[in-house]
This record gives sequence, structure tokens and C-alpha cells, in this order.
Amino acid sequence: MASKLVLLAVAAQRIWAHDAVTTKLTFNGEIIRIIQQRCGSCHRDGGSAPMSLLTYEEARPWAKAIKEEVLERRMPPWGAVKGFGEFAGDQALTAEELHVIADWVEGGAPEGDPSLLPMPKRWDNAAPPAVPRGTAASDGWTLRRAITLRSIRAEGLSKDASAKIVAQLPDGAVEPLLWVHGFNQKFGPRTYVLREPLAMPAGTKIRIAPASAGRAILIEAPSRER
Ligand code: HEC
Repeated sequence: MASKLVLLAVAAQRIWAHDAVTTKLTFNGEIIRIIQQRCGSCHRDGGSAPMSLLTYEEARPWAKAIKEEVLERRMPPWGAVKGFGEFAGDQALTAEELHVIADWVEGGAPEGDPSLLPMPKRWDNAAPPAVPRGTAASDGWTLRRAITLRSIRAEGLSKDASAKIVAQLPDGAVEPLLWVHGFNQKFGPRTYVLREPLAMPAGTKIRIAPASAGRAILIEAPSRER
């Protein structure tokens, strides 16, 4: 059994060795640092993703998929359409990081010098933070009193559903709040924290398109932030 595993490992290395290496970027140098920062919270043993990507052996078979997922902006998952509302905590890769990953994969995805490896990163397995409660608003719901909106999430969405949520202020202005696109249950309904709290006067109307997609949960800023 053990010898079979060794043989398999050797065979696997041979297959990779066929890809000519045409890049100076390496897993141990650049890639692991991006993975630790942007992917490791989920792609680790005991994380929410199906596989760890924290070692070369674990990540190498996924190299092509990694490139595709990050270029398509499916990973790291965010779930909201960018540019529609502004949120804190977006873990999206920078253009620079995208290039580094794409070039590394196209260049044969080499491992590099083990002495370049950074310290392993630790994540605690503490329970995920409590889901903040808020006021449920369906399409057409109108605020009876002024609030300062801090966070928002969409609930009740079915698989792959999309929902665009805006606030119609009494003066006619329309504020984009959140656009969830292709909802993926695996990641649950995420609560998005607004980069800047938004003052919404009484009379503000919540519009959801399509109206039947689900409801918006409006979470107010704690009083010290208003
Ligand atoms: C919030 C948690 C989370 C983060 C952060 C995350 N992933 Fe994932 N990833 C997942 C989950 C969950 C799946 C399985 C998705 C599914 O089965 O629909 C997945 C699947 C994948 C897949 C497999 C896709 C396929 O072909 O099936 C790849 C490749 C991947 N992730 C790469 C990455 C990379 C690279 C990063 C960082 C840039 C990253 N992920 C960040 C949770 C995450």
C-alpha cells in the first residue's frame, strides 16, 4: 500500500514535470502568500471549502481551476455584484494578484524554493459570528421613521436567484443597496456591511427586483455611529 502511494506520487510529479516552466513566479514565493490571505480561511483542513490549498501538493492539481475561478471572479466568493452599493471587507483579489496567479499557472505552476515559504497561518475554528438581526423589508416596504443603515442582507432567495435592492428616498433619489447575483446556498445569506452608513429618512421605500425574489434585512447602525 505504502509503496503504491509512493509510486502514485512519483507518477504525479512526472506529469507536472512535463509542463515546461516559463515563469519565475512560484508557489512558495508568491502564490502561497495570496492563498493564505485570500483563500485559506475556507480552503484549509476544517474550513468550509471542500479542499485545502495551503500546500503545493494540495494546490497543484487545482492550478488550472484556481486560475479559472479567480479570473471569473467566482473565488473568493462574494455573492454581490461589484459597484452596486459599497461594502467593507471585500476580499476580492487585486488586479496584480490576478495577474500573478494567471502567470504562475500559465508558466507551469512551479513549486519554488522551500526556504521562501512564509510561516503557516492559523485560523481559529471559533463559531462563525452571530448573524445580526434586522428589520425585514419586502418590495414596496416603507420606512415609518428615519434610520441609519449599517448592513444589509437578502433572505429567502432560492438557489441561483438574483435580487437587486435599492432605496427610493422621499426626494426621489435612488440609492443602490445590494445586488445579489446567482445566490449560492453553500455560502449562506451573507451580511454586507456598508462602507459608509446610509441615512434613510422616514418615507424611504425599499424596492426589490424581481419583487418576489426575497426580502431585504435592514440592520441599523449602533447609536454611537449615527
Ligand atoms: C468563503 C470561503 C471561501 C474562500 C475565501 C475561497 N473559497 Fe474557493 N471554494 C469555497 C467553497 C465552499 C467551494 C466549493 C464550491 C462549490 O462546491 O460550489 C470552493 C471551490 C473552489 C474551487 C473548486 C472549483 C471547482 O472547479 O469545483 C477552487 C479552484 C477554489 N475554490 C479556489 C479558491 C481560491 C484560489 C480562493 C482564493 C483566491 C478561494 N477559493 C477562496 C469556499 C471559499
